[in-house]
This record gives sequence, C-alpha cells and structure tokens, in this order.
Amino acid sequence: MFDINNLLRENIKNLTPYSSARDEYTGEASVFLDANENAFGSPLHTAYNRYPDPLQYKVKIRLSEIKGVPARNIFLGNGSDEAIDILFRSFCNPGVDNVIIVPPTYGMYQVSANINDVEARKVLLTPDYQLDMEGIAEAIDKHTKLIFICSPNNPTGNSINRDDIETLLANFSGLVVIDEAYINFSRQKSFIQELTEYANLVVLQTLSKAWGLAGLRVGMAFASEEIIEVMNKVKPPYNVNEASQQLALEALNNVQQVNNWIKETLEQRDNLVLRLKEFGFVQDIYPSDANFILVKTSDPKKIYDYLVSKGIIIRDRSKVELCEGCLRITIGTPSENNVLIETLQQYK
Ligand SMILES: Cc1ncc(COP(=O)(O)O)c(C=O)c1O
Repeated sequence: MFDINNLLRENIKNLTPYSSARDEYTGEASVFLDANENAFGSPLHTAYNRYPDPLQYKVKIRLSEIKGVPARNIFLGNGSDEAIDILFRSFCNPGVDNVIIVPPTYGMYQVSANINDVEARKVLLTPDYQLDMEGIAEAIDKHTKLIFICSPNNPTGNSINRDDIETLLANFSGLVVIDEAYINFSRQKSFIQELTEYANLVVLQTLSKAWGLAGLRVGMAFASEEIIEVMNKVKPPYNVNEASQQLALEALNNVQQVNNWIKETLEQRDNLVLRLKEFGFVQDIYPSDANFILVKTSDPKKIYDYLVSKGIIIRDRSKVELCEGCLRITIGTPSENNVLIETLQQYK
C-alpha cells in the first residue's frame, strides 16, 4: 500500500521550510516594511519591486478551472524541469536510492539523477517504443523511488500504452511520474483525472510547448495534496517570478488561440510527413502524438550538417540507442516547413 512516509527522505520529513516575510502575518496590510524590498518602485513601466506570491495562487486557480483539478493538487515550478529536480531532492537519498528511466526519452531525468547523485536504472523501451514491463519489474528494488514515463515520449513522439502505465501505478510502491509535456498534441487522454484513483501518481505538464511560453519558465506538477505539500516545502520560496505569474495568467485566458495553434500544428505535421516521405533518404517516419516527428534517414549526420549550413536547426538523435539514423524535427509554421522541404529538395 502506498505510504508517502516510506518514500520521503528523512531530512525532508523533518524539514522546517523557509518562512518568508509575507508568510508570517495574517490580516490586511498596506505598509510593507518586512522584506527589505525597494519601497519606491522599479526602474521600469511595471512595478516588480515586491516579491511574488510564493504559492502562485491566482495562476493555480485559473489552471484549476482549465484542467478540472483542485488548486491544492497543483505545484508550479520554474519549468517542469524544476519539478523533476524537486522530486529527486524530496524522495531520493543520494548514493542510496534509485529511479527508473526508460530510454530513449527526455534527457533531464538522467541529468537530474546525476546532479542529485541518484542511480538512474535504464530499462530500454521495446523496439516499438513501448514499456518493457518485465524489464521494469526486474529493475525495481526496495530503493526504487521514482519511475519516469514520458508520454507522448520525447524524442520518439508516440504515446505509451495506457494499460501498462496503469499496471505500474497499481503495483509500484514508489511514485510514477508521467511527463505530459506534449499532451496537448496527443490523441490520448491525460492522466490528471486519475489523481483520486492513484496516490502515487505525479503528472507533469508545462506552458513551454503548446502554450507557447517556453521563455517564461512555468511548469506544473499535478499530484495528491500530500505530495504537493512536500514539493512546496522543498522548492525555493519564490520559484516562479512575478512577470511570469502575471503573463501566464494573461495567457491562460487565451485558450482559443492555443487550441487554434494546436490544430494548425497537427495539420502541418500531417503535411510535413507526406512531403518528407517523398525523399529517397527518408526510411521511416514514426507515428507522432507530439509537435515533432522522428525521422529515420540513411545519412543523418550529413543531412543535419547540410541543414545547419543553410541555417536550419533540427535535432540529430542518431547516436541515441534505438534511434539510430534518426533526426527529430519540430513542426514549424507553414513557411518554416516550406523552407525545410525546399532546402531538402536541393540536398544531394
Ligand atoms: C518531455 C519533456 N519534459 C519537460 C520538458 C521541459 O519543460 P519545461 O520547459 O517546462 O522545463 C521538455 C522540454 O523539451 C520535454 O521534452
């Protein structure tokens, strides 16, 4: 049975979190002489002289309306990369505990594990980019705290079978972290509606992809209240800055614009796939549920270098295990995609 106390690091269980100036009073106030800010203002058109809301209440309320998840089940981070790091710091004892990652997948799980001195046990995806359930079962031991599943997966683009993820959720006594950075582009349903079903579920999403706010660095984790409380305790007090909170709030009122872009991205993706298939050097294009495609080619390095020489940057993934020969291409605007195709037409 899942019990967060069996998972938490002892030092985190006993941690007294930083108490900010604004945490320490209750009631109404109009004169703030408590946080050593510049009381006069900022040398800008907008005033940023006050520290931001540490728990980003307004943004969470709006997200809660959009996602149908209570605000108390939402953590906000400086990108979802911060949420990944905080999960390591909260649950994994350096040099003792381990996590499971399922490559080829998003690189930050391994990097965060390395930074936190936590072993990342690799269980390769199957050749059709699904979970090797037996391999995962064998890799789990009593020190396994987290399993990272990216769905839709980066760089392969496919979604991971829902039944397999549910099997892990039902049987693993640690946390199953499902990274849904690309969920807005997917035909699959998000796991965020399953939070009441699984106490060990953490879903990561981000405003960096479909929402078009990568520069603001706002990522989300959805989980049980007790997991969110731990993450809030461990995070830096003001981890999402005031400009990002204000702009995220404004952007979250523009759902229609984002939905239009998603639709257009998917149309562009289908179109790009059709056009790329006509090139002799394209051997395969994997089905994608994301805003990028993984393309297997006969000479990835040469194509990559050629495109760079023409000022077009894609991602060479050909050195990644199970992605031999592959290039990852983000779906651009119609004119960017045209430039890509026209440039490739001149490739010899
Ligand atoms: C699967 C996945 N998760 C997370 C991230 C990072 O998201 P954020 O910008 O919110 O840190 C990326 C970025 O490429 C990603 O591909």
